[in-house]
Amino acid sequence: MAGKVFFSVSMSLDGFIAPGSLGELMGRQWMELQRWAFRQRFFRENLKLGEGGEEGRDNDIARETFERTGANVMGKRMFDAGEQMWPEDAPFHTPVFVVTHEKRKVWERPGGTTFHFVNDGIETALDQAREAAGDRDVRIAGGGATILEYVNAGLIDEFTITLSPVLFGSGIRLFEGVDAGRMALEPVRAESTERVTHLTYAVRER
Ligand SMILES: NC(=O)c1ccc[n+]([C@@H]2O[C@H](COP(=O)([O-])OP(=O)(O)OC[C@H]3O[C@@H](n4cnc5c(N)ncnc54)[C@H](OP(=O)(O)O)[C@@H]3O)[C@@H](O)[C@H]2O)c1
Repeated sequence: MAGKVFFSVSMSLDGFIAPGSLGELMGRQWMELQRWAFRQRFFRENLKLGEGGEEGRDNDIARETFERTGANVMGKRMFDAGEQMWPEDAPFHTPVFVVTHEKRKVWERPGGTTFHFVNDGIETALDQAREAAGDRDVRIAGGGATILEYVNAGLIDEFTITLSPVLFGSGIRLFEGVDAGRMALEPVRAESTERVTHLTYAVRER
């Protein structure tokens, strides 16, 4: 049976998922947005950030999100930022399909992450990701522009937003330009922890 297509992002309380420029990426706002994740044991292990970390519900959610994912899809700007920051064995450990205009050879990393660069659109990238994922789910990993394309094409089944207690004021707004008229949301789950609130919705056609 085919898995779901989902995304899962950290979002500021005013709706942003990243600062406006890559230069600011490791700045204060980004760290505040992702602070909950950087404390988690699973996240620390996967990104080679060092020993230890919390093992509560936030950690379980990070691990569950990783384990359900059989293939990832991402935009080129997320890839460009990550290429500079990920450890050599990039933290996906699945095939990753990068939607881009740039022609580039397959890039295989140790640990099972293989980046494929797809030049003919989001549907082709998703078809390839579904094939690679088998029974597991396909994660649209980011960033905002790519997630929005999938949302507006009606290709997302479910999503989780982790609301972080931070305000950005400006940056990359997750739902800027969404085709709200075609999309209805059904609450699936809401889980609050000490640090953040994880909100999961199923997407239905209106
Ligand atoms: N808060 C979170 O949880 C979270 C999660 C993931 C990412 N992020 C952040 O999101 C930011 C990146 O997001 P973004 O919205 O700027 O960009 P993005 O979605 O990562 O990438 C957009 C780029 O992908 C390529 N692309 C997208 N659709 C395409 C198509 N149909 N055909 C061909 N190429 C296509 C284009 O690049 P080319 O024309 O150059 O190929 C486009 O400029 C990063 O700062 C990242 O850290 C945040």
